[in-house]
Amino acid sequence: MTAPSRPPAVSKTLYRWQRAPLAEHLHALMPQWAGQALDISSQDLASNASFVNYVRHHRFTDPCTGQPVEVVEKSIRKVALLGSQEARFHREAGMLAGSTQFRYPACLGVIETPWESLIFSEFVRGKPPRMQAIARQLALGIAELEQLSHAHLQAQPLAKAPLLWSMDFFRPWFLLRPRFNFARCMPGLAQLGREDARFASLAQRFEAFIPLTRQLAREARRSPRCFSHMDYLRKNLFVDKGQLHLIDWSEVKVGRVGFDGGAYLGSLFRRKDMAMYLAAQDDFINAYREALPPHFATEQALRNMRYVFLLTALFHCLRPETLDEYRERERMPLLREKYDYLLGLVATDATSL
Ligand SMILES: Nc1ncnc2c1ncn2[C@@H]1O[C@H](COP(=O)(O)OP(=O)(O)OP(=O)(O)O)[C@@H](O)[C@H]1O
Ligand SMILES: [Mg+2]
Repeated sequence: MTAPSRPPAVSKTLYRWQRAPLAEHLHALMPQWAGQALDISSQDLASNASFVNYVRHHRFTDPCTGQPVEVVEKSIRKVALLGSQEARFHREAGMLAGSTQFRYPACLGVIETPWESLIFSEFVRGKPPRMQAIARQLALGIAELEQLSHAHLQAQPLAKAPLLWSMDFFRPWFLLRPRFNFARCMPGLAQLGREDARFASLAQRFEAFIPLTRQLAREARRSPRCFSHMDYLRKNLFVDKGQLHLIDWSEVKVGRVGFDGGAYLGSLFRRKDMAMYLAAQDDFINAYREALPPHFATEQALRNMRYVFLLTALFHCLRPETLDEYRERERMPLLREKYDYLLGLVATDATSL
């Protein structure tokens, strides 16, 4: 991993009317390089998120130290001149400076134009982890992220309230997204029940999740706020010498304590068989219970975890693409097993997730 000399402690945001050549942006962010030529070689990195124009890896030599520098530039398209969540998050990222669990690549700064946000951060090297194997480490990292970001939010002046309000998970621009609306998939499940006797009348039983998730949402809204990353995928994590590096804040929100655990377990549930999932879930929850500071009510955090777990798992397991995929791979018995597991949660307390 290589960072430029003296990376800023807190990322800065600069405003420009239009984009300039790359070297000009780098000079603006790192004034100690002013007047010095930068010989930059660049390469595109694979990215999929909507609104991301590109992600690029730039290499050059630090003119002050002669050391190699590797920087990632992420360009995010703006809608109606509104900045991305990710760029907004980087303005607050100094709050994570004291982290001991996760490592976060240093952010050199953000350039905002009316049309895009350009985020410059340190390039990280490492291996993508096996997601079920890092449950414990993730639990410790998430508990720390929640603790640090909660304290940061508590300390924010009133003037910041509108910005933080707009980033809250419970705003309609997030809640209306398909991924948080499994109820829309119910007709597809009813159809599956008509075609395949193993799935008959399941749609009716899944209806119970609609009032249940509403109730969990009502409770979560009133619980402690924190920043939630919400995107614990293999491609967003790197392991290097036992350290976990977390990148990609494109799904970040002002969430609630417990949400990130639900996001991780929800995406694990989608990808793994039940035995592997259940073992990782146990590891995660045991470590998370221990790591969560006492001033957060553990039972409420676990209910919040269940809320996001259910939203994520139900959406992924019920959507038509998933039904097609399991059908094609002749894995319908596994899908049925996952449905049984989910249906079993209707009657159990969230704290035994
Ligand atoms: N700081 C970094 N260090 C090393 N590699 C990075 C860094 N930032 C991004 N990358 C690489 O670029 C890829 C895309 O970046 P990122 O995840 O931020 O964009 P994205 O558009 O949100 O992508 P996706 O939706 O595919 O996750 C990452 O999966 C990773 O391989
Ligand atoms: Mg990513």
